[in-house]
Amino acid sequence: MSDLAGQRILLGVSAGIAAYKAADLVRRLQDAGAEVQVVMTEGAGHFVGATTFQALSGRPVRSSLWDEAAEAAMSHIELARWASRVLVAPASADLIARLAHGFANDLLTTLCLATDAPIAIAPAMNRLMWANAAMQANIETLRARGVAVFGPAEGDQACGEVGAGRMLEPLELVACLSESGKTGRLAGRRLLVSAGPTYEDLDPVRFLGNRSSGKMGFALAAEAAAMGADVTLVAGPVGLATPVGVRRIDVRRALEMREAILAALPGQDGYIGTAAVADYMPAETAKQKMKKSGEVLTLELRRTPDILAEVARHAQRPRCVVGFAAETQQLAEYARGKLRDKGLDLIAANDVARAGIGFESDDNALSVFSADASHELGPGRKSLVARQLLELVADFLESKA
Ligand code: PMT
Repeated sequence: MSDLAGQRILLGVSAGIAAYKAADLVRRLQDAGAEVQVVMTEGAGHFVGATTFQALSGRPVRSSLWDEAAEAAMSHIELARWASRVLVAPASADLIARLAHGFANDLLTTLCLATDAPIAIAPAMNRLMWANAAMQANIETLRARGVAVFGPAEGDQACGEVGAGRMLEPLELVACLSESGKTGRLAGRRLLVSAGPTYEDLDPVRFLGNRSSGKMGFALAAEAAAMGADVTLVAGPVGLATPVGVRRIDVRRALEMREAILAALPGQDGYIGTAAVADYMPAETAKQKMKKSGEVLTLELRRTPDILAEVARHAQRPRCVVGFAAETQQLAEYARGKLRDKGLDLIAANDVARAGIGFESDDNALSVFSADASHELGPGRKSLVARQLLELVADFLESKA
């Protein structure tokens, strides 16, 4: 049976072109066994008519605080009590700002203030509006109050631009809502995960990189979100889709990765450094494409900052700091050395010389070390190994509570 079976979902629809997808969402929620009551903002009516939602949901659509007949049948306070979950999809920039600031100037915002049901929003807007500092501050405010934020997705936008801001698809929203209702072992925890390689540019067309595909880090982010964590994923250049419910920050170089990780550090409960960060970067990046000259080219490289070690000794150090070690020999010895030297709580070592696991593969096997214990995880799919590693992180966090 679906986790949404029997749930009473108050579906708020605000003004945005993605409102047309909310019609399909009503159906998908019903398919999952939920009852759906649609509440539209005045602006949403410019995109989709109430009749569509009424026909699909089988319930009169509510949109005004001043509708005497509707209030007599079920007052807005009764409606707020009726809901077992509130999902606002699409959530426009204006609606998000009003929610963040506690407005009650229409029926939907009033209901959001008056309900004690969990609230989730699915932002949908132009990419620049989404990236705007005011919007991000509003999102952080809502997150800090326990509002779940689903998406947005990246891709082509109705305005013709490409970027983050698209509403998640109805089926993805149903999956998010279902997952967020589960109280996983990491519910209430904030985890920061790094993934993928870094690319260190030599000139406008060449870079130093490595074979990391990002699959291990993305699997950790996806599994952590499924276990209830609030996940921020700092990703090097990889071609992977963002896991549902995960906040993603894309970077290219080690220095950018460091900056993104340190900026996201405050308030995190855990950091998992899965990224294969370059140890060296070119001392200089040529502004123009370098020309061939002579048989031998000598490059001058500089050490990159060790992000993991910096996180572990940071004043805002998360309670659980986990490193990865990619080794081709003496796995346990080198991994234990990194655990000690970098001041980590756990280190997950993989033998990247072994066929079928490690870089690029869908599978992995990890030897995990703490100061006084060790665990063998896998071999198996990266999602499975990720889940096992996250159980150890959850154990660690619970032991420090
Ligand atoms: O991405 P995939 O294709 O799925 O492959 C997964 C993986 C093999 C990349 C992953 O499982 C893994 O082993 N990641 C760590 C790779 C690595 O760079 O290992 P390392 O031993 O060089 O670094 C040790 C730790 O220090 C790592 O946590 C790394 O993120 C961190 N580090 C390293 C250098 C640096 N400048 N800053 C860092 O934070």
